[in-house]
Order: sequence, then structure tokens, then C-alpha cells
Amino acid sequence: MNNNVLLIGFMGVGKGTLARELVKHSDFFAIDTDDLIESIENKKIKRIFEEQGEPYFRALEKKCALWCEQNVKNTIISTGGGFYRQENIKNIGKVVYLQSSFDSIIEALKKAPDSKKKFKKRPLLQDLDEAKKIYDMRVKEYEKVSDIIVNVEDWNTKRIVSEILSKLK
Ligand code: S3P
Repeated sequence: MNNNVLLIGFMGVGKGTLARELVKHSDFFAIDTDDLIESIENKKIKRIFEEQGEPYFRALEKKCALWCEQNVKNTIISTGGGFYRQENIKNIGKVVYLQSSFDSIIEALKKAPDSKKKFKKRPLLQDLDEAKKIYDMRVKEYEKVSDIIVNVEDWNTKRIVSEILSKLK
């Protein structure tokens, strides 16, 4: 095991934000799987979906997962909402599921200062009825693959950070 921590959960639940908070309160560094994919493609996720399609993106996620397993240590890895499906996820590190209801996630995104941008950049959040179907399908799978489940519905950063760090010990 590489001593990494993977943050998994639905789109917009706050994986990247929390990774940055965890870095402030620990010796971990942090990376994000979507950022790595955008960087090697030199394209935004939205454009990869539009131009190459979702299967191409999923293949890049797989490549990213294999790379993480081989090369990443002592790092918080925030992941895209579909990354949890990677077969080798457990070999990469401890899996922490950030749990929240669909409605709370969407409400928080709507209230965010850059709300429009947050919706626009996510191809699978364009149709909220479809997104809810994806959420319902994934909820049990997120739980099943996780080592630690943290409810983040109230978004009390201090409580969430200390809960994760103490559960990791
Ligand atoms: C996806 C989530 C996105 C991104 C892509 C697909 C998903 O990341 O990887 O749009 O399948 O849930 P976020 O979880 O950061 O939105």
C-alpha cells in the first residue's frame, strides 16, 4: 500500500476542496485525477467528452489509476466522480467516500459564487434528472468500495478534516 488517500464521491461534493484543506492540516501533498487527465490531453474534461467521448475519457482514467498505483505515495488523490470504478483502486490507497444527499450537493452548487461554471464544466450534470439516476446507481457502489465513509452534508470543514485524519490513524 502506498499510503495514499483517495477521495471519492459524487460530482460537486467537494473532493478537490477537501483535498486542499487536508494538505493544510497534514504532511500530505495532493493531486486530482481530472487535473492530471486535462494536463496530459491539454484539454478540459468537457472538451474531451465532446470531442472524443466518454469511453475515451474512461480509458484515460484507467491509465491514470495505473500510473497512480505505480508512482504516487503519501498523497491525497481527489478523483472524478466515476473514478471509483477502477479495478486497482484499493492498491492505490485508502478510499474515503464523501457522502451527501443528491439534493444537498445540487443546492450547494447552486449557491456557490461560481455556480454557472461549476455546472458547465461537468458534462454529466447538464440534465439533473439524468444526474440523479447516476447518483442513485452509484450510491451503494461508493459505499462498497470505501474504507472510510464521512458524511459531509453540513460541510463543517474543521469537523470533516479532523474526522478523516483521525480515522486514517
Ligand atoms: C464525472 C465526474 C467529473 C469528471 C467527469 C465525469 C463522473 O469529476 O471526472 O465529468 O462520472 O462522475 P467531478 O466529480 O470532480 O465532478
